[in-house]
Amino acid sequence: MNKKIRRKLSVMAGLFIALSSTAWGQTTSKPISSDLFGLFFEDINYSADGGLYAELVQNRSFEYSPTDHKDWHPFSFWEYVTPGFSYGSINVETNAPIHPNNPHYITLDIEHVNNGGVGIKNKGFNGIAIKAGEKYNLSVFSRLISAEPITILISLQNDKGDIIAYDSLSVSSQKWEKYTKRLIAKQDCNNASLVILGTTEGKIALDVISLFPEKTFKNRSNGLRIDLAQLLADIKPKFIRFPGGCLVHGDGVGNMYRWKKTIGPIEQRAEQKNIWGYHQSMGLGYFEYFQFCEDIGAKPLPVLPAAVSCQNSGGTWRIGGTGQKAIPMDEMQEYIQEVFDLIEWANGPTTSTWGAKRAAAGHPAPFNLQYIGIGNEDKITPDFEERFKLIYEAVKAKHPEITIIGTVGPAFEGDDYNKGWKLANNLKIPIVDEHYYCGPEWFINNQLRYDKYNRNASKVYLGEYASWGNKVYNAIAEAAYMTSLERNGDIVKMASYAPLLAKKDFTQWKTDMIFFDNTKICPTPNYYVQKMFSTNQGDIYYHNVIATNANDSTLASSCVQDSKTGDIILKLVNVGKKENPAKINLSKFKKVLPTAQLILLIGEADAENTFDNPNNIIPILSSYKIKKSFEYIAPPMSLTVIRIKTK
Ligand code: AHR
Repeated sequence: MNKKIRRKLSVMAGLFIALSSTAWGQTTSKPISSDLFGLFFEDINYSADGGLYAELVQNRSFEYSPTDHKDWHPFSFWEYVTPGFSYGSINVETNAPIHPNNPHYITLDIEHVNNGGVGIKNKGFNGIAIKAGEKYNLSVFSRLISAEPITILISLQNDKGDIIAYDSLSVSSQKWEKYTKRLIAKQDCNNASLVILGTTEGKIALDVISLFPEKTFKNRSNGLRIDLAQLLADIKPKFIRFPGGCLVHGDGVGNMYRWKKTIGPIEQRAEQKNIWGYHQSMGLGYFEYFQFCEDIGAKPLPVLPAAVSCQNSGGTWRIGGTGQKAIPMDEMQEYIQEVFDLIEWANGPTTSTWGAKRAAAGHPAPFNLQYIGIGNEDKITPDFEERFKLIYEAVKAKHPEITIIGTVGPAFEGDDYNKGWKLANNLKIPIVDEHYYCGPEWFINNQLRYDKYNRNASKVYLGEYASWGNKVYNAIAEAAYMTSLERNGDIVKMASYAPLLAKKDFTQWKTDMIFFDNTKICPTPNYYVQKMFSTNQGDIYYHNVIATNANDSTLASSCVQDSKTGDIILKLVNVGKKENPAKINLSKFKKVLPTAQLILLIGEADAENTFDNPNNIIPILSSYKIKKSFEYIAPPMSLTVIRIKTK
């Protein structure tokens, strides 16, 4: 018998013992984390620009470059247009920009206008989706270079070039000014373009050309796409981790995600390459992340680089890569100050330097930042350890109210995992971030992982996990594992599936929670599992309420209670091919109401949701009669949540 099979059998034997020994014992309870299930957001797969961030113009600030992608340049995704018999010239320039963080802009030299004009056209992120009757807010920065005012025509055009919305404005200042217009669309079009046309002879500069639907999530300006944001809000996550992922530590030191570059007016934010092979406009920056968290009642969990870059920097993309680079030690005090400033920006009074910036952005009240992650699955090198320790100790000393989350590598075991845990225990880091992506069987076979963890060591944030796939079997395997996270909710403080969003045809990471294109959304079965757990969280775990067949390890279960509502929540996950009975004994609870709510997610193992059939696998709600003691037969390949009222 090889080692792998032996290990698997011993884990399965452990599982049988655990289930049978808990089957008929006394009901005991323990408090568990009230922040257990949340979201991981990373700008991967065009999740931010072209995704959740509602901006419709791509490369609005002419900051794309070959650093982002070998074929890209400041004029990528734009087209120079001279309708009619007009002519002129266009240039990308950098002299006297709006802001040094935003160096490129274009100049239009409109030499001759005849039945049209001289201008530019943008097709957004693979077409701009426009709805008839809806309003769209356009803004553009412009500066007159020639003497006389220049009239600009702004239009939305369908794929035939018909104008479906238009307006005009006059540029008269020789200083950069922001001009705004509201366009109302006459027609639906999923593949529209924005056209900006100079129709007076002369020369102007243009930059930060932005188009937003007027309707954004909670009507926030610079806001989020409603359908996607609502899907995330529907999960009722306890927290949102952002901005990544590998995006945090970046492709080399210069590409680290530095939060200060992402706040303030959009024209002043420093855009940069996205480690996933495209570009970050930073339009969705720290303010927007914090605002979104608040809007949906989730705690913000920003993750900051541990002053080292991704070990896979340079595109080696293999675990154990050696591309990690570190911020020089003599710059570390400045770096630590950046972390302090974030805490002040989020929580400080409006009279503080950074609290005042938050207030100036429209949020005088503190954001109540409670958690900060330092590092993202970094290679645990001496460089990392030295810098992590400095940051950790400084923040801990100055801000004992903040819970710091450390990092223990990109896998469920191995060198970085071991070294990361050793460091965590030495430094007594409150929580560490574990990451693992494995096959569904791994999740089924490792449900005892955290039962074996030391209860007195650092606690766990399972910050990234997923089984490789978006079929029902993957989702149900994850659900089984999630019952074990609840059972170990005394030491597993938080967990988030990853990645969250993926744009159709722009996907770098194949297994994701929600797929989307410019108009449609396709939540996976994995999304519904996350939602069923997240909207049914508890803060007390009960052992021995559910008794399962000790000889059959295909049924996983949990029982939690939400102390706010008093509701008892049972979860039963059948990863097998046969029905599986469970006996439920609620005698521990003084009162249970006879009508419970039952939510069932079920499907063939290889079923999935597609853009053509996005509702193939969705949870089904029904009411369900219960007694103090009853049997529930879990259908094959299913997750059942039974929510029972006690008052
Ligand atoms: O979730 C996708 C990637 O997986 C994250 O960016 C990284 O942290 C992990 O390797």
